[in-house]
Amino acid sequence: MNDENRHMLVVSNRLPAAVDQDSDGNWKVFPSSGGLVTAMAPVMRRNGGTWIGWPGCPKDAPAEELLREHSEQERFTLKPVPVSEDEVAKYYRGFSNQTIWPLFHDLLGYCEFDADQWETYCEVNRRFAEVTAEAIQGSSPVWVHDYQLLLVGRYLRELGVQNDIDFFLHIPFPSSDLIRRLPWRREIMYALMDYDHIGFQTRHDYRNFMQSVRMFVEDTRVHSKRNHSFVLHNERTIELGIYPISIDFKEFDSGARSQEVADSAWYFRENLRSDKLVLGLDRLDYTKGIPERFLAFERALEKYPELRGHLALIQVVVPSRVTVPQYQGLKEQLDQLAGRINGRFSTDRWIPIHYMFRHLNRNQLLGYYKASEIALITPLRDGMNLVAKEYCAASIENNGVLILSEFAGAADQLAQGALMVNPYDLERAADAIFAAYIMDDEEKTRRMKALRSEVRRNDVHKWLRQFMEKETRRHRPSQT
Ligand code: F6P
Repeated sequence: MNDENRHMLVVSNRLPAAVDQDSDGNWKVFPSSGGLVTAMAPVMRRNGGTWIGWPGCPKDAPAEELLREHSEQERFTLKPVPVSEDEVAKYYRGFSNQTIWPLFHDLLGYCEFDADQWETYCEVNRRFAEVTAEAIQGSSPVWVHDYQLLLVGRYLRELGVQNDIDFFLHIPFPSSDLIRRLPWRREIMYALMDYDHIGFQTRHDYRNFMQSVRMFVEDTRVHSKRNHSFVLHNERTIELGIYPISIDFKEFDSGARSQEVADSAWYFRENLRSDKLVLGLDRLDYTKGIPERFLAFERALEKYPELRGHLALIQVVVPSRVTVPQYQGLKEQLDQLAGRINGRFSTDRWIPIHYMFRHLNRNQLLGYYKASEIALITPLRDGMNLVAKEYCAASIENNGVLILSEFAGAADQLAQGALMVNPYDLERAADAIFAAYIMDDEEKTRRMKALRSEVRRNDVHKWLRQFMEKETRRHRPSQT
């Protein structure tokens, strides 16, 4: 069996389409994009699978009916899991984004540990499992995604589901020392033992997970064979693998060659009036290191006065999770910092930081990538960071310079071509900005060619194939 002929169930917190009201107040389906959708949608269209998730709307919106119509166009089924306002507050904003998210990104100080939120997280995970169990046809494998749904495998087993259940963690897995702080560490670690196959972004995440298995799960044995590792627990075998997620290289590369993108890049350059541009582009998130980036840029302007008037930072922050208090606090902090630094260095002709809080369409995104000589991507911690890979794919003239945090999952693949920095080390980050600014063309080309070749070879389609190959291998007759 292979991905050509197997019906699959994908389970993720959000569906690849959201149900929302348009400007006239009518409920509509708005398709979404992103790495997971790009990779999975063609397989789902070919095989007629089912995608289960939260449609992002209130429980009383006509999601079921609208998504049924949308499914007919998509050729795979979108199955909504209703989540009430109160549950969104406790399951999504609460336990997912104020406990697991900061803990798994090594930011213990941001964590809340609230038993009520945990209970709701369990209830909503159970509901996801119930909707999934109803949608299962025959031996279809189930593929659960990410930290909002850690317990779905456990509840599916409780409902008697014997099918293969795979799990992919898109965010980092922290050290066992952090997992120790979680009051529900045993429940979560044991629940993960109910999956058949767990995928991580990096070797570091995989090692951290193994450490926690040894520490918190009794009666386990670990068995490694070439590139595969297996945890044996309760007469079950859980296969573990490392699958760094990626982007559709060809789509970004060809998009960056279009006339529309050339026009939008020209427009940005004309308006920003700086010889060179350095780009920061992130979802609003305290894991992205945006305040530290502003400070590193300020330090670069102090330390290298020749940058003043010649290099500007464009920081695009895409609104995200704005109802979570810590995200609101971050927004205020960024407004203040950008204002202070601009007040300090701006002249009649030049502004050091162009800071925008907004969504971008595809041409604008590619336009910013193309217009910027340098990308400054400095998360404090990140599962992967696809912006880094997108910037390389869009650098079609091989002349962009990537400055990348050593704490992004993407560092494992991009360290050879990027200038690597520790985002907490403002002095070195300032030096890296200056080094990128003065880098000669020959070095830029050499580095960017290496980066583009890496992203081209290891694109999102390869990520999907490699994850699915494990799934396929388990079904070969010789294995049974
Ligand atoms: O894995 C991180 C992630 O959950 C992505 O899947 C998603 O695109 C992003 O964070 C934003 O998530 P949300 O808006 O659903 O909280």
